[in-house]
Amino acid sequence: MTVGLQIAIDGPASAGKSTVAKQVAKQLHYTYCDTGAMYRALTLAALRAKVNLTDESAVLAILKTLQIQFKPGSPQQRVFIGEQEVTQAIRQPEVTNNVSTVAALAGVRRQLVRQQQQIAQQGSIVMDGRDIGTAVLPQAQVKIFLVASVAERARRRYQENVHKGIDTPLATLQKEIEIRDQKDSTRKVSPLTQAKDAVRVDTTALSIDQVVAKIIAITNEKQKDHK
Ligand code: CDP
Ligand code: CDP
Repeated sequence: MTVGLQIAIDGPASAGKSTVAKQVAKQLHYTYCDTGAMYRALTLAALRAKVNLTDESAVLAILKTLQIQFKPGSPQQRVFIGEQEVTQAIRQPEVTNNVSTVAALAGVRRQLVRQQQQIAQQGSIVMDGRDIGTAVLPQAQVKIFLVASVAERARRRYQENVHKGIDTPLATLQKEIEIRDQKDSTRKVSPLTQAKDAVRVDTTALSIDQVVAKIIAITNEKQKDHK
């Protein structure tokens, strides 16, 4: 019998992680888990409760009662807090610009990492985030570190916003991405960093399909050793 692998995809903001992770999962019939959505849902709940986002015990009290659920959806996976859909709300600029503060809290990471490990334990999973290959699934058979130039990543976000009717200047988007990457890369607990055994894929000049094909090829190679 073929045993499903764990595929960890990490990288900076807007490198294409969730788009390609979702496609890879679809083609391989694997489960997809967007760990960023978990940090975003918690940030949204904390903002709504008006707690100080650096107050770890206040944020942990919110996390304790938070029921995050994923449901299949297109083009995005749908995200719920309890019965309430928050798929769009967690992508709002206020959440995007505050999520790195919440994600830097050690206690928050401990709990969300545990939940993510439970989700991944059966294998046949594609998980994307910042610390999947280094902290959540250090034993993952496939580790990918996706990068692209910051100008290209800002351009992609800009294009995405145009489709949604959001009018944020390109320079503002690039600045926001740079600030978030800086915070994610310099936090004390499991900062964004490439795992030693991860394959680095620069997507600046690659299409989504090319990146997906590359990851599937790497996975198929690993699968041969993992029967
Ligand atoms: O899709 P995008 O690159 O905008 O970000 P995301 O994957 O939705 O993640 C949002 C934020 O959550 C990141 O900027 C990190 O601060 C945090 N995050 C994290 O710390 N660890 C993860 N495994 C995933 C996300
Ligand atoms: O999850 P992450 O923040 O890393 O990025 P994403 O939300 O998957 O991708 C950001 C945007 O870049 C999306 O609009 C993708 O369609 C686009 N993209 C692209 O144009 N070319 C790629 N090779 C990958 C993503």
